[in-house]
Amino acid sequence: MRPDSRHHDFAPRLVSWQQQHGRHDLPWQGTRDPYRIWLSEIMLQQTRVETVIPYYTRFLARFPDLAALAAADVDSVMARWAGLGYYSRARNLHAAAGRIAVEHGGCFPRRFEAILELPGIGRSTAAAIAAFAFGRRGAILDGNVKRVLARVFGIDGWPGEKAVESRMWDLAEALLPESDIRAYTQGLMDLGATLCGRARPRCEICPFGDDCIANRQGRQGELPGARPRKTLPEKTTAMLILLHGGEILLEKRPAPGIWGGLWSLPECPADADPARAAASLGYRAEEARGRPAHVHTFTHFRLHIQPWLLPVQRPFTAGEPGRLWLALDDLDGAALPAPVRRILEAMRGASGS
Ligand code: ADE
Repeated sequence: MRPDSRHHDFAPRLVSWQQQHGRHDLPWQGTRDPYRIWLSEIMLQQTRVETVIPYYTRFLARFPDLAALAAADVDSVMARWAGLGYYSRARNLHAAAGRIAVEHGGCFPRRFEAILELPGIGRSTAAAIAAFAFGRRGAILDGNVKRVLARVFGIDGWPGEKAVESRMWDLAEALLPESDIRAYTQGLMDLGATLCGRARPRCEICPFGDDCIANRQGRQGELPGARPRKTLPEKTTAMLILLHGGEILLEKRPAPGIWGGLWSLPECPADADPARAAASLGYRAEEARGRPAHVHTFTHFRLHIQPWLLPVQRPFTAGEPGRLWLALDDLDGAALPAPVRRILEAMRGASGS
């Protein structure tokens, strides 16, 4: 296929492949409700379909429409998001629902520019929502799409780099079909998620076959280009598990910030004395027992967590804002960061409770 016909044939081939072999029964595909589509697109940013599905279902059971989300307090939204990660997505979702209530009379906006203005929605997400909900023609460019375009059209360089990304946006715009925008948009996502995965792409059944530059040149492993290597900074912290009568003390994390809005364990520097740190919170601990260390990798650093278990006397004080005592038996419904949940579940498992 000559380069110009590769461009020309791309959309029709993708659409017909999607119709025959793509995904058709994902929970957000049976609807044109922009609220449900918006929610799915936000959850699917940086998160795999299989992980998203149970969260999506539970979230919709609790917040079935825009009005329910706009009326909810942000804590109950965070609780339904806990474990899914990238929590600014949940805060933005809630903020956007409030904005839609005030600025759009509670009706999800239809104009691309208005969708793009909502918190947490970038160019690609706005285009995906507009395509699926309203059949509007617009280019998407998420990680999967970048991989497909880099391979089929042989685009070198790391797509995180501005110049490479901007070339891909131009290409994504130029490839758009005049019709079938829903099947086309879904086809890009499906191809990237199923056949054109990062490892072991299934070129033998791909609709682009030998017309894909990466396949023809055996460069699937090189395209798209990798991010220039940098080692992640390492940070350390100690987490205090203050235990009294089967309950532990949690503190609310400030927003914005890491785990903002979630309930986490009190922390102290890794080299501090944990019993003294407990005392500075107002709790007397007879002993501090070291628990197995955990490592959690964020995008920008790796966090080494040393948990300490401190049985404490609990003073007779009224509830303090930003602190709560949670029964270890009630971990399941709490808005905890994933590593904190793992630490507490490991402890609960070990103590046989
Ligand atoms: N990834 C992002 N959006 C998606 C969608 N609508 N379906 C499947 N995977 C996706």
